[in-house]
Amino acid sequence: MKTLLHIDSSPRKKQSYSRMLSKLFRDKWLKECPAYQLNYRDLNATAPPHVDLPWIDAAFTPKTDRSIQQRQALELSDFFVDEFLAADVYLLGVPMYNFGMPSVLKAYVDNIVRVGRTFLFDPDAAQPYTPLVEDKEMFVVIMTGDSGYRKGERFASMNHLEPHIRTAFGFIGVKEITFIYSGNDEFGGVKLEDSLEQAKEKIDSIFHSKKSLNGA
Ligand SMILES: Cc1cc2nc3c(=O)[nH]c(=O)nc-3n(C[C@H](O)[C@H](O)[C@H](O)COP(=O)(O)O)c2cc1C
Repeated sequence: MKTLLHIDSSPRKKQSYSRMLSKLFRDKWLKECPAYQLNYRDLNATAPPHVDLPWIDAAFTPKTDRSIQQRQALELSDFFVDEFLAADVYLLGVPMYNFGMPSVLKAYVDNIVRVGRTFLFDPDAAQPYTPLVEDKEMFVVIMTGDSGYRKGERFASMNHLEPHIRTAFGFIGVKEITFIYSGNDEFGGVKLEDSLEQAKEKIDSIFHSKKSLNGA
């Protein structure tokens, strides 16, 4: 069986629109692609640790030389990396916070973009960085308080979330990333409803145009 790894990062639960839309996407995926099983990760329930000095010392010590304490410092990071590598397709639910990602997702990125695990580094090679994640696809639902953060729109230059996700996950080899935007949470009413409707239409269009989803 293949695995869809669904990761939510909003601290809100029932009121969260990124959770609501990512769940909609996930339910469609599991219905359309019976070859997939779900692995769900709520980053607010199992918070990745912030990178600290023991973590750095451990991550940059060769695996075979690590002390028990260093192995313990990387335990959760190893758990998240193993889980990430075991999945075939990724789905992220992400609220925009101050034009970027929420800190739990940043901590997650810091824990899984790891030398020797998701990329290789050889300072003497012509191409020093080798991504280790291959043939995987990612979908990202972004929810914002305002709107207009997509390419060509009025706040596009303030959107540091999409470029960061593209760069960080692209660096370890996830190149095929599709973004689904919704917004206007801060306005509510018809503006919010219209934006949620557009996101749902975008999700529908993804499923219409990709009937052969990743070999499913
Ligand atoms: C700390 C914080 C920072 C935020 N920063 C932004 C922002 O930069 N741009 C924006 O449009 N909305 C911003 N918002 C609004 C959220 O993106 C919006 O409420 C969104 O619906 C949150 O996603 P959720 O419904 O999944 O929790 C911010 C909200 C919080 C709590």
